[in-house]
Amino acid sequence: MSITPRPPIPSFLPENAPFTPQQRAWLNGLFAGLFGLQGGVTPLSKQDVAKLFPGLVDAPEQTPDEADDGAPWHDPAMPLTGRMKLAEGKPLTRRMMAAMAQQDCGQCGYNCQNYSEALFGGQEKRLNLCVPGGKETSRMLKQLYQELEGGAPATAATSVEATATPEGAPGRSRDNPASATLVSRYRLSKPGSEKDTWHVEFDLTGSGLDYAAGDCFGVFPANDPDLVDAVLAALAAPPDFPIGGRTLRQTLVDGVSLSPAPDVLFQLISYLTGGERRKKAQALAEGRDPDGDAATLDVLAALQKFPGVRPDPEAFVESLDPLQPRVYSISSSLKSNPGRVSLTVDAVRYAVDARTRLGVCSTYLAGRAEVGDEMRVYVQKAQHFALPEDPGKPIIMIGPGTGIAPFRAFLQERQASKASGPNWLFFGHQRSNYDFFYEEELRAMRASGLLTRLTLAWSRDSGEKIYVQHRMREVGRDLWTWIKEGAHIYVCGDALRMAKDVENALVAVVVEHGKQSPQDAARFVADLKNNGRYQADVY
Ligand SMILES: Cc1cc2nc3c(=O)[nH]c(=O)nc-3n(C[C@H](O)[C@H](O)[C@H](O)COP(=O)(O)OP(=O)(O)OC[C@H]3O[C@@H](n4cnc5c(N)ncnc54)[C@H](O)[C@@H]3O)c2cc1C
Ligand SMILES: NC(=O)c1ccc[n+]([C@@H]2O[C@H](COP(=O)([O-])OP(=O)(O)OC[C@H]3O[C@@H](n4cnc5c(N)ncnc54)[C@H](OP(=O)(O)O)[C@@H]3O)[C@@H](O)[C@H]2O)c1
Repeated sequence: MSITPRPPIPSFLPENAPFTPQQRAWLNGLFAGLFGLQGGVTPLSKQDVAKLFPGLVDAPEQTPDEADDGAPWHDPAMPLTGRMKLAEGKPLTRRMMAAMAQQDCGQCGYNCQNYSEALFGGQEKRLNLCVPGGKETSRMLKQLYQELEGGAPATAATSVEATATPEGAPGRSRDNPASATLVSRYRLSKPGSEKDTWHVEFDLTGSGLDYAAGDCFGVFPANDPDLVDAVLAALAAPPDFPIGGRTLRQTLVDGVSLSPAPDVLFQLISYLTGGERRKKAQALAEGRDPDGDAATLDVLAALQKFPGVRPDPEAFVESLDPLQPRVYSISSSLKSNPGRVSLTVDAVRYAVDARTRLGVCSTYLAGRAEVGDEMRVYVQKAQHFALPEDPGKPIIMIGPGTGIAPFRAFLQERQASKASGPNWLFFGHQRSNYDFFYEEELRAMRASGLLTRLTLAWSRDSGEKIYVQHRMREVGRDLWTWIKEGAHIYVCGDALRMAKDVENALVAVVVEHGKQSPQDAARFVADLKNNGRYQADVY
């Protein structure tokens, strides 16, 4: 019997793929068999190889253009109109991304890019998940969704029920929360402070939850019962009106958001009124602002603006957004607090006309919830906010206000794991006498040497506004030395102003003490980010 020689197996792998000749021959044979090809082969790209062998081969760095066209709108400080302008003419996923608040905060269960891709791909139908973007984002997403085949999703797609099937153990995502008990709470801001900030602690025993320093904790809040009663009164509806096996009152307490009045509520009101009132409600439903008060209209204010409208309770509930969880940076380390997790929560309260508006979750955690209460919670894993793997690396932490939260966790973690790296914290707030959160702990850490340096910035102690970035400039020489020694830099807190100012200060330090041009310094800081040495947890 004669044997026909087999044709040589074509090469599917790029020349520079990191395999031995034997591995290369075996893999090429495998691909030839899989693809049933004998010739005319296009070698796999390095990206393809990286996909096929995750962990073995690193995906090549995509240039910003390949990845997302540079996403010039990916800036949380830029207003939506500016972001949409920059995204004009870009593919729909990019415009959807631009409509989001650009904080990559994870509250929606995605980052901005993944959320837009999930909407585009149809895996996600809820258009109102972007908490920081609020109504403005959901309105824009709805408009963009029209471009997809089939147009906007049914209203049900924006409701609580339209969640993806939960996967994994409870407490690992917002779609499948676990239960934890509030066990203690104390006020961090002292009497006399303009802030009302609290240390809030949960018992995780029995929840099956664990977490790493840098992770966030998601909490499902409940609305203020007084606000619920005021809404019920404005509706003139019976609190025990049955809605889906629950009462109307229960649904208003923890099922729906009573914050910004959704467009659909104004639509509903427009059906129930006539003349000028109808026109006004219609205008509000279309995102216009006929009386200049649209931004202040929560659900109660919307009902009060149209006194006498009496929507059917079921239709009313249908017109509202689901009550969403909020996330908080974890301010404890599990190593030093087994079975516990703590948060650092600033209670949001502000006045509009005669009524004080309450941030739903912060005032729930800082007041309405009682010690012993169980709540629905989950751990939101940090995507790019973690201590360096090498415990000997220096870290520089910049966290004014509640931005201190993850850094308390980092310090506890470094203490518990006896990490040898030096630790430098920049903390700032309004007044040293009232707003020095965790003062005793930090002083003890400083005394023990765990905290190598503590630099403080008080913005209202004197006539001059002193912020963390001013202190960074003052000690720029030392900062530069730490950076040269391989320090990892972290920033946490306000996304809109502080984070940008801190980054600018860092660039200025590199210019001044690293003796670089502004362009090189900006590139240097960008490289720190790309290499994971400059990480942000901002909101
Ligand atoms: C990753 C991440 C980490 C976070 N970590 C923390 C943390 O450690 N500690 C912490 O306290 N918060 C943290 N937050 C913020 C937190 O998630 C909530 O956004 C915050 O507690 C407010 O939620 P709320 O439900 O109390 O307020 P909401 O009911 O959502 O109300 C807040 C809204 O009220 C409006 N508003 C607020 N103040 C005013 C004002 N003065 N005038 C007019 N309107 C106003 C704004 O529209 C604002 O978006 C974090 C957020 C993210 C994304
Ligand atoms: N989503 C929400 O509704 C919500 C809830 C809680 C907090 N927040 C926001 O989250 C952020 C954190 O709030 P917080 O209570 O932790 O404290 P904060 O309001 O950020 O204040 C902390 C300190 O930062 C200072 N600061 C103000 N502008 C700054 C800037 N550009 N650069 C550096 N520092 C600056 C403040 O000074 P001065 O105030 O004296 O100027 C204060 O000393 C704030 O933006 C806050 O509005 C939002």
